[in-house]
Formats: sequence, C-alpha cells, structure tokens
Amino acid sequence: MTQPSKDTPEARAVAGEIEKQTRVKAFFKTRDRRVSIFRNDAIRFLKSLPSASVDLIITDPAYSGMNQKLKLGRGKIIGEYRKAGENGAKWFGEFHDTEENYRSFLRECYRVLKDDRHIYIMFDSFSLLSLAPAVREVFDVKNVLCWDKVNIGLGHYFRRRHEFILFASKGKRGLRSKSIPDIWKIKRVVRSKYATQKPTEVFELMIKGSADKDFLVCDPFLGSGSSAIASIKTGCRFIGCDISDKSMRFSRERIAYFYKNKVDPFQTQSLLGDDGALIKLFGAG
Ligand SMILES: C[S@@+](CC[C@H](N)C(=O)[O-])C[C@H]1O[C@@H](n2cnc3c(N)ncnc32)[C@H](O)[C@@H]1O
Repeated sequence: MTQPSKDTPEARAVAGEIEKQTRVKAFFKTRDRRVSIFRNDAIRFLKSLPSASVDLIITDPAYSGMNQKLKLGRGKIIGEYRKAGENGAKWFGEFHDTEENYRSFLRECYRVLKDDRHIYIMFDSFSLLSLAPAVREVFDVKNVLCWDKVNIGLGHYFRRRHEFILFASKGKRGLRSKSIPDIWKIKRVVRSKYATQKPTEVFELMIKGSADKDFLVCDPFLGSGSSAIASIKTGCRFIGCDISDKSMRFSRERIAYFYKNKVDPFQTQSLLGDDGALIKLFGAG
C-alpha cells in the first residue's frame, strides 16, 4: 500500500493547485492537501472545476430510477428502506437523472477531464438501459464491466448479484494493466452505517487500470468515501463531493482515521472474491 506522502514543499504545491482548481471551500482536506471533499451538488461541483484539471473520474451516481424501486420490479419498497435515510423515505437525496440532467453531468465530466484520460461510471440494470446510451454521445465507450458481488441481494425477478461499470475514454489511452478481467468478483459490504457503501477494491481496480501515481482522481458522488480511500491506497490525489451531510461526516472520519492509523475503519478486511487474477493483481496471493 502506498502511504500518504508527508507535508513536503512538493505536496503543498499540489495542494495549492487543488485549491485553485476548486475555487470553493472544502468541507474537509487532509493536512498534506492531497485529499479534499466538498459538500455540493455533483453538477455544481464539476462546474466549479477548471477545464482539463482531473486525471480520472470514478463514480457511482445516485440514480433516481433505482430509488423509485426499479420499473423492472413490482414497485414496492422493501424492509427498512423507508427508515434508512436522512430524508425519511429515501436512503439519500436523489440526483435527478432525467436524460437532460444526465447529459449536463456527462458534459461537465468531459470538460473537467484532461485529454487522453478515462472515466468509470457505475450503473444498476435499470439505469444502464435508460441512461448509458447518453454516455456514448459524449465519451468513447470501451467496455461494460460487471461487478459480481458473489452473494445474492434483494430482487423481485431474480435476486440481484451484480452491477455494471461503464468504462470510457476521452481521447486515446491504454490500460495500465493487461491482466484485469471484465468481471470483478468482489463481495458486497454488509452492515455498513452508510447504506450504499461499496468495497474499496471496486475503485482500486479502476485506478489500477487507468491511473499513474499522483493522478488527481475525482468522484462527484462520494457517499461513504470508498473512492477516496482507494485513491489514497494507490498513491493518487483525490477530490470529491456529495450533497449529503452524512456523507461528509462519514468520509471525513474515515479519511482522517485512515491517514492516522493506515487502517480503513469502515472496511476492515479485503472483500476480494475467489478469483486468482484479481488476487494476483492485489498482491494478496
Ligand atoms: C450510490 S451512493 C455512492 C456510494 C459510494 N460509492 C460509496 O461507496 O459509499 C450515491 C451518493 O450520491 C449522493 N447524491 C445524491 N444526489 C446528489 C447530487 N445531486 N450531487 C451529489 N451527490 C448526490 C448521495 O448522497 C449518495 O451518497
């Protein structure tokens, strides 16, 4: 694991660059200023960044299609879902993913991304069918990856065990590793205090595929901060935002604890599934 770098003159220069880029006050930043998080709406946050300022986008948006309980299903809210979120009936505030709003989001992603760089966007099945075609209008879509969560979850017609990850580029860029399969066997996070927490390994794989050391990674739907932890672990800088206070508090605690103790307090063990190729990539075999 790459440790966070010290507060060197070089790190301070990098931090100054991030602050100039965002032009708004961070909710939290690390002392070496390699990691900053902002409480903001995704599109507004992206608009605050200069063009061609980010090296990699890895993100897991809040699709309202999913919040409306999938038109693929029976439209019934299950179990504790109603109680879970700050707003009462929802896990979290919705990103209004009308096609028009989603296109604005994609155009901003394209603008802030440098040339010859990659973007990874996570999708549930419903959103993949309705919104993914818009990604093709903006980016050069290279592949649809599948995150296999190993264990089944909820679902009306077949129990859900996967999510999709759309992998696309702005300009030309190859993958850093030729040995990453297109199905990622990584167990889901269970019993998290943040309902949508994803395993850090999902984001680490995106970074392993597409980033050089010190790349500036951006996630405009930060949630529990998994993408930030993945960036720190892989020696990258990070900026991210989320609209929810809970996300800010959760991520700040998680990032600060990780910096101090080199341990992730909200994912204490590896969630890699039984897949030799992935185990080798993470050096755990
Ligand atoms: C699927 S979750 C992300 C989970 C994250 N990948 C993790 O591992 O914890 C989506 C997040 O988007 C946030 N969100 C909803 N609407 C938003 C908006 N308009 N702008 C930014 N974030 C938003 C929610 O608060 C939620 O934390």
